Amino acid sequence: MIEIVSGHAAIDRYLAGGYSRVRGMSSRFAAAICGHVIRRQTELGITGDVAEIGTFEGRFFIAMALGLAEGERALGIDLFSWPNAGVHDRLLGHCASAGLARERFTTWKGDTRSLPPDGLRGQLALDPVRFIHIDGEHSHECLSHDLELAHQALHPSGVIALDDMLHPGYPTLIVAVLDYLKRHPEMVVVCIIDREDISAAAKFLLCRAEVAGLYEQDLMSSFAPFHYIVGGDVMDRLTLILTPEPKMADIGWND
Ligand SMILES: C[S@@+](CC[C@H](N)C(=O)[O-])C[C@H]1O[C@@H](n2cnc3c(N)ncnc32)[C@H](O)[C@@H]1O
Repeated sequence: MIEIVSGHAAIDRYLAGGYSRVRGMSSRFAAAICGHVIRRQTELGITGDVAEIGTFEGRFFIAMALGLAEGERALGIDLFSWPNAGVHDRLLGHCASAGLARERFTTWKGDTRSLPPDGLRGQLALDPVRFIHIDGEHSHECLSHDLELAHQALHPSGVIALDDMLHPGYPTLIVAVLDYLKRHPEMVVVCIIDREDISAAAKFLLCRAEVAGLYEQDLMSSFAPFHYIVGGDVMDRLTLILTPEPKMADIGWND
């Protein structure tokens, strides 16, 4: 596979080194693309906080947080009880090893379902969130709730990343996303990031339709070697697909 990078020096150092040593479920492929999006937001003057629901030991969280600009902060939300109570200490250790200063991030231990829909801005006092990764409980009820939390906190030009989309282990989870898109027709899936394998699964990137142009063409050209040119149809919208090894089915095109 061609080496993929975000173009952000600190994120790429972490992706090349510590990333695979931090236990977790997000792919390096997706982390590089999301790191690129965070870098691009900074270049475009889109400022705000970043957040993750389902931080676990910090694999993906650290990549996001290393992309922050001065004065921004990262919030990691988790029950921090699974698979045992040591998970929060391991997260702190991984952040320190990756050079993520303690004042750049906070954590919140709790069940997202206990937060009201405006809880990220209200109770947890975040600034508008420019990038949020949702990777908590994979039930229809919880993802629907987490999407509303993210929606209410989102910067107008911000991005919501959803993990484990179209994962064979969660075959109906997509219904919660489609329901959300019906409730919020101003939102679109701007990019589908394909899986690396069954445990490092696909992610969807969502944003407001009016700002999709800030991301779509840039992702397509920046990650041209990974562009699956046929794209995908999400609710009648042709959607960009990036995949680790793009190839077309061999149906004898040249015969
Ligand atoms: C798959 S792991 C996250 C992996 C991590 N994002 C990564 O990329 O390595 C899912 C996490 O979601 C947390 N979680 C599950 N349900 C939750 C809820 N209702 N509220 C907060 N966190 C939750 C679990 O404790 C677990 O640590």
